[in-house]
Amino acid sequence: MLESEKSTMPRPIFTDPAYYTKAFNYSMSIGDNIEAVQKWTDEKFCGHVVEKLVANITDDKQLRVLGVGSGSGEIELFFLNKLLTKFPKIHTCVVEPSATLLETYQAKIKAHATNITFDWENHTLEGFVEKHHKNNHKYHFISAINSMYYVKDLNEALQSLYDMLVPGGILQVAITADFTGYGKLWRTFPDLGSETLSQDGSPESDSSSSHHRDSGYIHDSLRQLQIPYYTDDYTCNYKITKCFDEKESEEGNLALDFLTHTIGFRNAPKDLLQQVLACIKESCVQRGDQWFFQSRNVSFFITKT
Ligand SMILES: C[S@@+](CC[C@H](N)C(=O)[O-])C[C@H]1O[C@@H](n2cnc3c(N)ncnc32)[C@H](O)[C@@H]1O
Repeated sequence: MLESEKSTMPRPIFTDPAYYTKAFNYSMSIGDNIEAVQKWTDEKFCGHVVEKLVANITDDKQLRVLGVGSGSGEIELFFLNKLLTKFPKIHTCVVEPSATLLETYQAKIKAHATNITFDWENHTLEGFVEKHHKNNHKYHFISAINSMYYVKDLNEALQSLYDMLVPGGILQVAITADFTGYGKLWRTFPDLGSETLSQDGSPESDSSSSHHRDSGYIHDSLRQLQIPYYTDDYTCNYKITKCFDEKESEEGNLALDFLTHTIGFRNAPKDLLQQVLACIKESCVQRGDQWFFQSRNVSFFITKT
């Protein structure tokens, strides 16, 4: 990327949590991520997690679950419903830094009374680890679904999560695959949404940084930590036709901003905008007059020895 382009790059999406939530929610609304993960949960989750926990956990009356970066809980609730089939009593701790998303999760629970009790922790993982450092709470199942993009130190985060498992407990970390969809876009344009490229050229704070992590980073980190794992994955499709429309629209801009992790990417230097749109198109399939961006989501499964 040219130096001249850096100074006019739109600012990172993480500098505005409300806009991040809006763009994230819009992206979810045009994608089949929820359907894809529900299908994957129905077909695979029991084999990867529930049956193994049944075999590994014999001495506890209540299953203890931790969700990290749970968002509004859609995906975690699929998992919890599967766990309920074998573990009638579950206590879940939900760690989520966005108060808005946490409230949405809480509203869902009220609407669907379950046999699950909850602790709500309006924190980042780092804040939660610091606050609960002395408690030494251990969990049977920990899920971090699409949240490891945002932790400051990946090795530290994965090691803390591993340390919070009981022996025989399972950690599931889900993240976008490298070299396809989001992974391909971010590896081709690593500076997109970076804190070093704010509009006024000044570095943003650490909390706003975007590392564009993908499954390759989790592989590397787990290898460095010498934590054994295996993976499984599924494909998601996002209808992003409006990103390619000549006429600008709020929907097209939200989709483009979430893909690029920036605010107002439409105003990026023209050459860069065209290169990025072309790269996005390479990961798309066309059905009729609609364009679907395809991305793979990889889950890492780790059992505490
Ligand atoms: C892409 S969303 C995924 C939400 C949900 N797990 C899902 O898959 O639908 C990422 C989530 O991670 C949360 N998050 C951001 N930084 C975090 C951090 N440092 N620790 C834990 N969660 C974080 C965000 O607030 C957001 O809810």
